[in-house]
Amino acid sequence: MTTWTVSPSGPLTGSLRVPGDKSVSHRSLLFNAIATGTATVTGLLDSGDVQASRQAVEALGAVVEDVEPGVVRITGTGDALAEPGDVIDCGNSGTSIRLLCGLLAAHPFLTVLTGDHSLRSRPMARVAKPLRELGARIDGREDGRLAPLVVRGGELRSMRFDLPIASAQVKTCLLLAGRRTGISVREPRQSRDHTERLLTGMGADLTQSDDGWWTLGPNTSLTALDVDVPGDLSAAAFWLVAASIVPGSDVTLRGVGLNPTRAGVIDALRKMGASIEVTELPAAGAEPIGDIRVQHAQLHGARIDGDLALRCLDELPVLSVAAAVADGVTVIADAEELRVKESDRIARTAAGLRALGITVTEAPDGMTITGGQLRGGSGIDGSGDHRITMAFAVAACAADGPVTIEGADSITSSYPAFPEHLERLRG
Ligand code: S3P
Repeated sequence: MTTWTVSPSGPLTGSLRVPGDKSVSHRSLLFNAIATGTATVTGLLDSGDVQASRQAVEALGAVVEDVEPGVVRITGTGDALAEPGDVIDCGNSGTSIRLLCGLLAAHPFLTVLTGDHSLRSRPMARVAKPLRELGARIDGREDGRLAPLVVRGGELRSMRFDLPIASAQVKTCLLLAGRRTGISVREPRQSRDHTERLLTGMGADLTQSDDGWWTLGPNTSLTALDVDVPGDLSAAAFWLVAASIVPGSDVTLRGVGLNPTRAGVIDALRKMGASIEVTELPAAGAEPIGDIRVQHAQLHGARIDGDLALRCLDELPVLSVAAAVADGVTVIADAEELRVKESDRIARTAAGLRALGITVTEAPDGMTITGGQLRGGSGIDGSGDHRITMAFAVAACAADGPVTIEGADSITSSYPAFPEHLERLRG
């Protein structure tokens, strides 16, 4: 399915369990790979990105066994990773490559990390530069800024990093790199905190000071931790928007992760007038979860910026689709990081919405969208970017004709069952 044509939809109804959270799935494999003991991971996301992390930790000496669909058992190396015999291909996964850089920085052997066309054009200086300051050797194309990256770690020094951007990938990479020597990191704003929750659960001495510094004590040794992966709120977001914008819809999403550092999409949609009810359930390990019911509502424009934009950054393409049918104007700002995701998501979203008849003005850090009627259309570029493909499949549901998306196989990165779930909810 490289070209995918999605027709407009009647009401979306029913209930669904979305796939496992991608961020938690990656971390459950990567962190347990350096732990001592065996852990069972339940609800692991089965997708291209998570496969990349699995294959990487296997190449580095961890043992991962399939127990049943969605359940794996992983036996860690006790932080004695082995030099891989070949290049490690991270595919489309930024989380895999950046977190692996941190894991590998503490080991003296050589690893080459590469990925697909999209990943090889994403900025790696944000991890390579601080890792070099810690004492690791990191080389790459264009002055070490782009993958393939050649990593040779070793004995590092202990440092403090006041990070210029809020990025959970960079923060996690550095905490992992500093696991032997100890390290402190601070972000300008709190990014998603799955790492802090999991590392603490695995016995790490990780504390936060009043002024925001996270400090990991020296000689960290992690104990294997069973992980019950929550449903992915970023996957649920597509249905939250689809049900909000298609009249007559009523959808319930079960067992979805509600980590407040990630839950901005619910706040943003409510700010736009969405009808969303959350019922909290007992936590899945360290992560809060709940059922989310969403019903159609006439949305209105809103401003999504600052901390809210950070808490729904991955959801901004699909929130832009909500904005496209809302009454009035929506302004998205403080989201310049969207330009360096799997694609330049500001440019791709703006171009796609314009192709469907919506007025969009781009800014360096966001866009202004004037709500209207989505038209059918073609030439939407979803290549290499799962979230763009799925956002425009949602747009098709509320359009007045079919929408054709190119490169739609990108959805396998995070949500291979998306087309099947779409059909199920459309009845
Ligand atoms: C992720 C962090 C975010 C997010 C990405 C997953 C993670 O990226 O956009 O989809 O699992 O740590 P940044 O760290 O680049 O903000």
